[in-house]
Amino acid sequence: MSFSIAIDGPAGAGKGTIAKFVSEKFRLKHLDTGLLYREAARLVIQEGVDVLDVVRLEEIAHKVDTKCIIENNLRNEKIASIASQIAVVPSLRRVLTQKMRDFTNNIEPKYQGVVLDGRDVGTVILPQADVKLYITADEQVRALRRTKELEKSALQKILEDIRLRDERDQNRQEAPMQIAEETIILDTTFLSIDEACEKAAKIVTQGMPDIIVKTKIS
Ligand code: C5P
Repeated sequence: MSFSIAIDGPAGAGKGTIAKFVSEKFRLKHLDTGLLYREAARLVIQEGVDVLDVVRLEEIAHKVDTKCIIENNLRNEKIASIASQIAVVPSLRRVLTQKMRDFTNNIEPKYQGVVLDGRDVGTVILPQADVKLYITADEQVRALRRTKELEKSALQKILEDIRLRDERDQNRQEAPMQIAEETIILDTTFLSIDEACEKAAKIVTQGMPDIIVKTKIS
């Protein structure tokens, strides 16, 4: 019988990061059980299932495949909210719990055991786990951590959008974005918007013919 660790706790307490760290340190296979609920939520949205339709929700649970879960698609607040709404349905929970147990019973020999994190690992999924941890933190602190996570992923998304748009604008056939000859480049990376405006105005003033009355820029 291999070694098993159960890690439970509320959102934003750090259980996922801790579970990942422990899994690598002790060569354990890791399963984030919340991902199964999130995958079920994704299917609910995709198939337009009513979150109160318990019969369809059980069917959805059967369709969740632990080998085909793409985590990046599931880390958003809409999915998290639907996941927690459908997580109250006992028949759906039973099916997903069985899939989690199947996962723990089918690990490759290179692993010494499993670490599962979620909400009911120590109580329901693996009550016989060798080590049980409950990770918690003050809710204000957890909310702040979530906000930072969201900011980070929003930043990444915006960065990708900017790169894509720049590339399209630079590479189109018709009038691509280019630096024209005799252009003065003004890099605003380290300037406030007021400083940038002043610098631009200075450049404009310098380029003005003397017959135009120049406005003094300090
Ligand atoms: O942990 P995560 O935020 O990904 O989980 C999403 C939702 O899935 C939770 O809010 C919870 O309602 C549900 N869940 C659960 N039991 C688990 C894991 C997750 O009810 N073992």
